Formats: sequence, C-alpha cells, structure tokens
Amino acid sequence: MEIRVQPVAPDKRRPKPKDESKLIFGRVFSDHMFMMDFRAGAWQDARVVPYQILGLDPAAMVLHYGQGIFEGLKGYRWPNGKIHLFRPEKNFERFKRSALRMCMPPVDVDFQFRAVEALLKIDRDWVPHSLGSSLYIRPTMIASEPHLGVRPAGEYLYYIITGPVAAYYAEGFNPVKIYVSDEYVRAVRGGVGEAKTMANYASSLYAAEMAKKKGFTQVLWLDGIERRFIEEVGTMNIFFRIKDELVTPPLTGSILPGVTRDSVIELARHWGITVTERPISIDEVIDAVKSGNMKEIFGTGTAAVISPVGEISFKDKNHTVGNGGVGEWSHRLYDEIVGIQYGEKEDPFGWIYPV
Ligand code: COI
Repeated sequence: MEIRVQPVAPDKRRPKPKDESKLIFGRVFSDHMFMMDFRAGAWQDARVVPYQILGLDPAAMVLHYGQGIFEGLKGYRWPNGKIHLFRPEKNFERFKRSALRMCMPPVDVDFQFRAVEALLKIDRDWVPHSLGSSLYIRPTMIASEPHLGVRPAGEYLYYIITGPVAAYYAEGFNPVKIYVSDEYVRAVRGGVGEAKTMANYASSLYAAEMAKKKGFTQVLWLDGIERRFIEEVGTMNIFFRIKDELVTPPLTGSILPGVTRDSVIELARHWGITVTERPISIDEVIDAVKSGNMKEIFGTGTAAVISPVGEISFKDKNHTVGNGGVGEWSHRLYDEIVGIQYGEKEDPFGWIYPV
C-alpha cells in the first residue's frame, strides 16, 4: 500500500521545545501523524498528515467498550546526527498480539516499520539532541465504528503520533517509593494484562492515586487471586536482585511482556548473571529486604528505562531497599542500555535499528 504524504503548511508548524531538559513526558507533539483506516475488511488510505484533532462519532465503539491498544517506542539521535530505534520489531509484534487479543485487525510488522519510517522521515528534526531525551513514538489503534451493540467493531483507525520527551519520572534516575496494594489488582490471569490495551492503564489509576496521596510514586501490584505474588510496579516490569541473582516474575498472562524487561534479562545473562523468571511473593521480598539479602529492586519500561526502587511500603510499614540509593546493577544496566540506545556503546545483540 502506498503511503500518501501531506506536509504541514509552513505557517502551521508547531513550536519546538526551547529547552530539551525541561520537557515533560507526553506533552509536546510533532508536526505530523500517520493515519490509516480499516474499512470493508481491509486497511486503507495510509497517510502522513499534519497532527490533527480526530473526527470520531460519539458512538465510536472504543468510546464505549474500550477496544483500543497502543505501543510506545523511542527514536534516539546519535552524536553523528543519525536516528535509531531500539528493538522496534518487539513493539510491532506485541502490537499485533494486542490487536488479536482485543479482536482487532492486526497490522503487518513490515508495514508498521514503513509507517514509522515515513513519519520519521518528515519529522526528523523533532528528534531531540540531548542525551536522555528522545522522540517518543506512540502507535495506537481504536475501534471507530459507530455502533452500540457489544461485538468487535468492523471499522478501526490506526494512527501514530510522536513527540520529544525527557525523563518519564520527575525523580529522573532517582529511587522511587512504592506502595504495595493488597486490595486492588491490575490484571488477572486469563484477562488482558499481557496486552497493551488502554483498559489496563485505566484500571491502574485508582490504586495509583491512593498511593500518591500517601506519598508514594507507584503501586506494586500483586496477583489477582491470592494477593501474594508480585506482578508489576506502576506501568513497569519489576526485577529483584537477591544476593547475586536477578529474579523477575514469569510471563503467565497477566504481565506485560516488556521490551526493556527482555533486554535486561538478555544483557544480565550476557554478563554472566543468573536471571530467574519465577513467582516471587511479597513475603519473600519483605523478608529479603529485612535480612539485607535484597540488594536492589528496579522497574523496567521504555519510558523510564530503569527505575530504581528505594523504599517499599507494605501493610503500613516502610522498608528501605539496600541503602535506599541507586543500586550497582541498576546503574550498570541503565548505563549499558542507554549507551546502546544512543550509540555510545557497542550493540552485540543487534538491538539498534537505523532509520
Ligand atoms: C513504559 O514505557 O514504561 C510505559 O508503559 C509507560 C507509558 C504507558 C507512558
């Protein structure tokens, strides 16, 4: 399918951020977006157009029954000016799996590459220049058919927006305080936890707000059946360094298969570190924190890369992890992954994709 390009009129260009270090995550958007419609059983009218408000019927099914999925990946500007993506095929494959889980039409991985490339070609100048900042790329799909019966929609809109971002958390690469929710859960096995669907984020908000009110940055999610096993932290996957082993919960359906999660596992194993994917209970975590065997805890995600956890609150008791600072492995993993992303370190895994 051809991708039609309609450039923005010069006088309609959006203002670029003046100070990249002051960027707030997800506030500024680039001049163009990619759009494509699914109608009569096929994707059609692929186009790069000026960033615009969507025309959506108030009966559009996404607005009622939540058939909506998205992805998040980043474009990095290297010192030589070239732009690179980090393992984009992982995001595109996951987008396809999310679509199938939500009864939405998949978009070819190759076509997703073409769409992102077409968009980055025209909005290249929007990729920021400073280390730590990048162009966040947000592919999205929503059910656009106006219909109030509950069934998979017959019409969809696929679009990609992008925007320059700096660090995701206001804390930057500083340890966050997390609150263990033993009341609310993010997802259950057999549900949609492993799909990057909008509902998962909506269902996380209430507990996250409660945690914020208590002075915490994020929620530590437990499993939906026993409220015993760790699942995720906030919108991220989670890792525990117990002595000299890295432990992370296995992907059993309720956990999002993170790209950074996968990269951390591969990188740590490459360094000779034992990485174990196994269920880990909150009791085991708290015991290990108390005994000093828990050296580090950190979250992983595209937005923040590595987010060290300095403090955990469980049943109204606060526990400091390690010395409360940034752990050695968190630091090393962060430096290595960011180094690869920005072309400062070698990429033995083939993770980097030039655009
Ligand atoms: C991530 O990339 O870590 C996320 O899932 C955050 C995103 C939803 C803003």
